[in-house]
Amino acid sequence: MKKGNEDRNIDSILRPAKWEEYIGQIKTKENLRMIIEAAKIRNEAVDHLLFYGQAGLGKTTLATLVARETAAPLRIITGSSIEKSGDLAALLSSLEEGEVLFIDEAHRLNPAAEEVLYPAMESRKLHIVIGKGTGAHAVSIDLPPFTLIAATTRFDMLSSPLRSRFGAIFHLEFYNEDEIAEILRRSAKILGVKANEDGLSILARASRFTPRTANRLLKRARDYTVVKNLKSIDGEAAKTVLSLMEIDEIGLEPVERKLLELIAFKFGKGPVGIRTLTAASGEEQATIEEVYEPYLMKLGFLKRTPTGRVLEEAAVEHLMREKWRN
Ligand code: ADE
Repeated sequence: MKKGNEDRNIDSILRPAKWEEYIGQIKTKENLRMIIEAAKIRNEAVDHLLFYGQAGLGKTTLATLVARETAAPLRIITGSSIEKSGDLAALLSSLEEGEVLFIDEAHRLNPAAEEVLYPAMESRKLHIVIGKGTGAHAVSIDLPPFTLIAATTRFDMLSSPLRSRFGAIFHLEFYNEDEIAEILRRSAKILGVKANEDGLSILARASRFTPRTANRLLKRARDYTVVKNLKSIDGEAAKTVLSLMEIDEIGLEPVERKLLELIAFKFGKGPVGIRTLTAASGEEQATIEEVYEPYLMKLGFLKRTPTGRVLEEAAVEHLMREKWRN
């Protein structure tokens, strides 16, 4: 196997293959299973679905489960990979009956490609223009029944005509610590690594309530047990791994602590505008908004207000605790 492939291989091994193995997102799972069951009874393709939420919460996994449950082929693309509307038209016209088309990062679809999607989603029609200039004419092609599953981290960036064409929209939430611990327990078993409850709960606490992050920490902890010839991931090992990765006990990375310190000490806890924060931190606005802030807000460390970002007392207390520790 080539270098660098091992981790990604593990990711697909850890991905739940059955609903019974999928932990958390209970409401979404319940609703999806009902939609699928009804479609099966009516012998129809599952309605178009939209999943939105933070990265790493299982949107792709859910799409795989929907396809598997309906025994449908699954095609995965990302919004930014579609350069021209013709690319999407070609793709749609090659779909098989019942096929599931998963478009990740759907907010990155260009507007011309979106236009192609509307009639395809609504009435399974593909409108294409053949020829150029005065000889150009429009033709309409019938598409087979198919299911579009779109995923996005930025619901606000999806156009409303697109949003309105989904039969169901699911907001994936952060997992709770017990669910993450359960996911870690399952993953550890699959990877054949022993971990005690202490070790698992330390990793769970640093997982940002996100399975992908939890599994990443577990992989690094597993590396550590191999290198140090340890029998299992205990509390001590888990803590050491976090500290090697410069991740604190609640999963914050150095850049996020730096961001909190900036707001606390340079901007007097805010309110500070996102542009100012971007300039002062040197981080990209999109990364701040899509990666760092959602978790900081979930922790109750940060608030977005009309006048800017405001730091909460809990964040200051955390920074102080970290300072004492170091
Ligand atoms: N691995 C990643 N996400 C998972 C989930 N929701 N349940 C079980 N294992 C997972």
